[in-house]
Amino acid sequence: MGLWIMKLIDFSNYLAVLETTRKPWHDKYYALYSSVLGGVTLDPVLMQVPIDDHLVHRGDGVFDTFKCVGRAAYNLDAHLRRLARSAEAIGLTWPAGLDDIRRLTIETLAQAGRECCTGRVMLARGPGSFGVSPYESPDPALYIVVYAAGTPFMEAHPGGARVRRSLVPAKPARFATVKNCNYLPNVMMKREAVDWGVDFVVGFDDSGVMTEGATENFGVVTGEGALLFPRMDTVLEGTTMMRVVQFARRLVESGDLAAIEFRDITEEDARAAKEILVVGTTINVASVCEFEGDPVGGGKPGSVGRMLDGLLREDIASNHELRSAY
Ligand SMILES: Cc1ncc(COP(=O)(O)O)c(C=O)c1O
Repeated sequence: MGLWIMKLIDFSNYLAVLETTRKPWHDKYYALYSSVLGGVTLDPVLMQVPIDDHLVHRGDGVFDTFKCVGRAAYNLDAHLRRLARSAEAIGLTWPAGLDDIRRLTIETLAQAGRECCTGRVMLARGPGSFGVSPYESPDPALYIVVYAAGTPFMEAHPGGARVRRSLVPAKPARFATVKNCNYLPNVMMKREAVDWGVDFVVGFDDSGVMTEGATENFGVVTGEGALLFPRMDTVLEGTTMMRVVQFARRLVESGDLAAIEFRDITEEDARAAKEILVVGTTINVASVCEFEGDPVGGGKPGSVGRMLDGLLREDIASNHELRSAY
């Protein structure tokens, strides 16, 4: 007779065990879909991902995150197109196609039924083994989670963002351009920001060219009034950045900006900038007030950042073409 030190879990006690795993932060999780379970649950403790899904033990999967305001997902199709591009880059396809992922996403959002929330779609290599070969997973798996909305940065920090330069090596282009579930460098960047007591860190590659933040893109406004973003082959193509560029064209027309360029940005460019902007799904457009301890543009949020943030907020609230209702 062996001595059971560990609790033995089987069908007879499983639900009782799950009940003990309930956590306070589960209150922020509204609906969770799993293709493995073949359905959606509103109870977070019932959402379980198989440990042999290569998503879990190899980070083998891709994802995308979008925001919902007024019972509509903003710019969902741009997020799903990026998910499809990321999946293609790692040789992963959802057999029923992108329209099916879209339908399941909208249904999961409808089940959550929240006015404002965040949605995340994860397309995983799927269960199959504990090996590294993607060919050992016969079918991909899809997980969709709906959770609490984040606060746009400038709402919580009207004075602007403090930013430092990250020490985490920049991802090679092949991986930086794919929104894959292997986010360890991004995690380490966020850890730096928290440990250093700043709002964001920004990466630079080996040749001193600015890349991006942990989960956001960076741009600068030069003294001559040009809005610069990094070249798209070195960073993730942010849906927010691309939308902001469309609004920036209006500012070029009105004379508030001189030009928009995607080009290499150096630390000197950042230090000489009139404004530094941070853009992303949760934060919208944040203005940087301090870079590496020095004030940016007099230490106050500048006019370009303010205008672009305003135009983006207006678009999120009222652009019916980009709003997918649920
Ligand atoms: C590495 C990285 N860069 C940039 C972004 C910004 O992309 P988006 O504007 O689509 O949120 C994200 C978004 O999560 C990201 O993870």
